[in-house]
Amino acid sequence: MAIAVYPGSFDPVTLGHLDIIERSAKMMDRVIIGVLKNYSKTPLFSVSERVKMLESITAHLDNVEVQSFGGLLVDFVHMNHADVIVRGLRAVSDFEYELQIAQANRVIAADIDTIFLTTNIKYSYLSSSIVKEVAAFDGNIDAFLPPLVADEMHKKFREQIVREGKEKIKR
Ligand code: PNS
Repeated sequence: MAIAVYPGSFDPVTLGHLDIIERSAKMMDRVIIGVLKNYSKTPLFSVSERVKMLESITAHLDNVEVQSFGGLLVDFVHMNHADVIVRGLRAVSDFEYELQIAQANRVIAADIDTIFLTTNIKYSYLSSSIVKEVAAFDGNIDAFLPPLVADEMHKKFREQIVREGKEKIKR
């Protein structure tokens, strides 16, 4: 039985991520999406918001589940008795970073392999950072995100505008 962990920040999860999840789910018996509790970055969405969105958009996939994790990825993989880590590769520029992480993970946990899926060409330019940048300037993000996630992004930025407005009034 092949169990895969698909780790990431998913802040927010994009159509590119969803494509990798759906393709992994076809190949693996089980796919565990690992949402990183990233203490060094200030995320747009909290971990629980990211987990909830991922659960909603993968509800149609019976063999996919979502968990959050902190600490080392390989420890999370061992804890779940998983066999492989799945990562998407958009372009050559991703390769260097991904290779470095995969090799480091192999040194600290020789029993875990990383497999790479090439991103669907439709989404080869897409990243969570680009989506956040477009959304911050009120651009149209609907082509980048599952509809539910696009709605949550719109809500988040509306909340931010209201918050900033209130702060301006206070000053
Ligand atoms: O979506 P991202 O932000 O590119 O995902 C990066 C991720 C989660 C795969 C990476 O940061 C990670 O594995 N972090 C956990 C900490 C860890 O195990 N680091 C050692 C790898 S050398």
